[in-house]
Amino acid sequence: MDMISVALPKGRLGEKVYARFKDAGYPCPAIEAENRKLIFENPEAGVRYFWVKPSDVAIYVERGAADIGVAGKDILLEYEPDVYELADLGLGRCRMCVAAKEDFRDRTDRVLRVATKFPRIAGRYYAGRSRDIDIIHLNGSIEIAPILGLSDVIVDIVETGKTLLENHLEPKAVIVPISARLIANKVGYKFKYDAITELCRRVAGRPEQGGPL
Ligand code: PRP
Repeated sequence: MDMISVALPKGRLGEKVYARFKDAGYPCPAIEAENRKLIFENPEAGVRYFWVKPSDVAIYVERGAADIGVAGKDILLEYEPDVYELADLGLGRCRMCVAAKEDFRDRTDRVLRVATKFPRIAGRYYAGRSRDIDIIHLNGSIEIAPILGLSDVIVDIVETGKTLLENHLEPKAVIVPISARLIANKVGYKFKYDAITELCRRVAGRPEQGGPL
């Protein structure tokens, strides 16, 4: 049996993803016992897992360091890695939104200042609306930007909406729904086709839909 290497996103989403893989027949007892190690393998189940930063999963998969991985649709839309998107796992559901202060009114005669971790998603969204924007590329705590007057709006992920609420911001538009996707390296997918399609079928919880989406 082919051994499949899997890049898992470290953190809360990763825990849920691993649980899904385990229930699907790809357990790895060592992963549950150790908490600082980053690579685990279970030859009987034919899997090797790596914990990587969520935003790096697609890089490992694109370059073939992992055969498959689980990445948020936000990362796939932002970086457009050259990988196959095999399935929507339905985990980590949230929305990419435009948000601003409750009293914000857009002044279309001015360039809109947009703070975000996702400059390409934001750029495409406003280009589609022929709106001139000035992108302020931040790495986290985006919600602070409009409060301090650094930006007019933010483009960011909203899950429960709590972070916005507690910072007196509100969602103004939903750009796209987000969830975790199973992705595969294009070469690995061909060479390990049987093992990967079987894993996809079991992990995604529905019949294989005839190849990459
Ligand atoms: C994300 C996102 C929001 C928050 C939304 O941040 O950027 O800040 O989660 O979640 P909520 O709607 O449930 O409040 P993350 O935790 O990834 O940290 P970050 O500030 O480093 O982006």
